[in-house]
Amino acid sequence: MRRAIIVGAQKLYLGLKGAVEFAQELKAAAGSKSYPFDVVVCPSFINLAHVAEVLRNSPIKVGAQNVHQEDSGAFTGQVSIKELTDQYVSYVIIGHSELRRQQGETNEMVRKKMITCLKHGVTPIVCVGDTVEDKQAGRSMKAVVEDLNEIFKQPISHAISSIVIAYEPVWAIKAGRDDKNTISATPEDAARMHAMIRSTMAKMYEPSIADAIRVVYGGSVNQNNTDKLMAQQDIDGLLVGTASIDLKSFCNILDCAEKVVKTKSLASVQTVQ
Ligand code: PGA
Repeated sequence: MRRAIIVGAQKLYLGLKGAVEFAQELKAAAGSKSYPFDVVVCPSFINLAHVAEVLRNSPIKVGAQNVHQEDSGAFTGQVSIKELTDQYVSYVIIGHSELRRQQGETNEMVRKKMITCLKHGVTPIVCVGDTVEDKQAGRSMKAVVEDLNEIFKQPISHAISSIVIAYEPVWAIKAGRDDKNTISATPEDAARMHAMIRSTMAKMYEPSIADAIRVVYGGSVNQNNTDKLMAQQDIDGLLVGTASIDLKSFCNILDCAEKVVKTKSLASVQTVQ
């Protein structure tokens, strides 16, 4: 059975003090708990080293919000994978719509970044998703399949089964709007998309590889929709943005996910018996 994963992407919200305090309090809150899933916190680049220091020797992992595809070179303003692994980063979010679609990052660049991560033993969290135009034109699935075909085309010689794919409908990403104006995908729609992502990966690779890949949902996740999203069979976790910068709300999401994951594992054990 795939191990679930909850990722908190702090975007550019918390300053140094806020990010360090958040990490200290999350570590204390997680304390003696042993979540039945991976927990990853992704601060902004400048806060990474400080947060990683706080979270060292804790079960909470640190992720970055981006990486450059090349190991080194004349790339002013970029951050390399080696610089990230030096800071104990074990996950990297790649191809987030706020960069990829809004600042011109292509699927080819996303692919290169993913391969760079895999080469260095870092787990890439690869974002794919449909835009509001795709949704209105009824081509959401087609848009996501196009992303998958371009990003994951063969050959990829590294451990592809270790990747995480994040389905993030661009229209559902909160992006600083008011709560009342945001809308997440329904758990059923998200689950359909996740199943389609897995079957596309099974066609491109082997079913056993597709079965091992974790597919998480992101876009207006909060403490109120966590249980219904996590209860879906093909939703292996969540990529939480805005709701991950408030400690109480992130902890509520973790607690809620814990209950659902435990129920899901129990159900799968009973099915096997
Ligand atoms: P949101 O962000 O949870 O604030 O919608 C999700 C994301 O940007 O990945």
